[in-house]
Amino acid sequence: MIRRSLCGLLLLALTFVAIGSASERERETDDRGVLLAIAQAPLKTRSWHNPYQGQPDAVLAGKKLFLQHCAECHGPQARGIGRAVNLHLSAVQNATPGELAWFLRNGNLWRGMPAWSGLPEQRRWQLVAYLKSFRR
Ligand code: HEC
Repeated sequence: MIRRSLCGLLLLALTFVAIGSASERERETDDRGVLLAIAQAPLKTRSWHNPYQGQPDAVLAGKKLFLQHCAECHGPQARGIGRAVNLHLSAVQNATPGELAWFLRNGNLWRGMPAWSGLPEQRRWQLVAYLKSFRR
């Protein structure tokens, strides 16, 4: 009886592992190569302008915010840990600043990315300025 339920548990565990790795592979992107979670941003967000674009002060402020709020999951260099993706990937960097700002506000709770709607809008733009500074 005990052995039987152990087998059942093992099967269950294996199923979860299988589902987990399948979803890892399914990091689908749109035709621009942007992660679908971000690409779900409404089209209008593509024209949103980051008021802090390329400003060194904002990049620095964004870095501080990143270390405070994001590094625990994405790593101090934003290279990703486990499911929390590497933010240097072109699948993230190809997104427009507006799409990133939208994504930060909404998150992807279902997949473990918190929503940052509690941060003032200005701070989300500073975070975007920091993320975009990786490309230089
Ligand atoms: C509790 C852990 C956690 C924290 C804290 C966190 N993230 Fe994430 N983040 C994730 C996970 C998990 C994903 C992958 C979600 C998925 O599979 O789509 C993710 C994905 C992302 C993505 C890529 C879009 C995507 O859907 O994969 C960006 C950009 C991002 N995070 C930025 C940030 C920023 C900026 C912060 C800090 C304000 C932050 N994250 C804080 C866990 C976290």
